[in-house]
Amino acid sequence: MAQGSLHDMFIDELRDTYDAEKQLTKALPKLAKAATSTDLRAAFEQHLQETRAQIERLAQVFESLGEKPRGKHCDGMAGIIEEGKSALEEDADEATMDALLIASAQRAEHYEMAAYGTLVSWATAMGHTEAAQLLQETLDEEKATDEKLTTLAEGGINQEAADLAHGGDQDEDDEPMAPTPARRKQTGAAAKATARSASSRGPARKATTGARKR
Ligand SMILES: [Fe+2]
Repeated sequence: MAQGSLHDMFIDELRDTYDAEKQLTKALPKLAKAATSTDLRAAFEQHLQETRAQIERLAQVFESLGEKPRGKHCDGMAGIIEEGKSALEEDADEATMDALLIASAQRAEHYEMAAYGTLVSWATAMGHTEAAQLLQETLDEEKATDEKLTTLAEGGINQEAADLAHGGDQDEDDEPMAPTPARRKQTGAAAKATARSASSRGPARKATTGARKR
């Protein structure tokens, strides 16, 4: 195998990322279509527009380096999208599906953040200032998308899905509005038992962890 320079690896990584973005432009409309939350759907649609602009930006990066924009199949993104497709096939209620869609999309975002983070560092190290600036713009957009998805997930979607998962059970953390005396008693006893076992297990568990580390 011929020895490649960091510049060769950089171009190769750019081609990989160019292809990853193109794959995403096909996957994002499917996520948007499957989303129930209007905010989530809007987030996917907005990121689709951004992704198209990111492909254009990558073309500018290639040009700034005197290279033709060209993709190379990205197996990593293909795998993440394939897993996302399995999520779409799950038989889940609307909030659970939205939570799953966010999980799939965030896997893709984190993969891209890793790729762009490396690309910015390599471009900077090799003095490709224009390329580094363009790549940083995209990295910032990916981070903002990731944060927006976290906000949506933690701003209600995850809780709604969690409530559906635990709806009507005797989770002792979920104090009912008007507990019956019997239930209150049971909860109190259970809470005491939990506190007891936590205090007796705590130090022992810590000791085991410490021992394992050594
Ligand atoms: Fe992207």
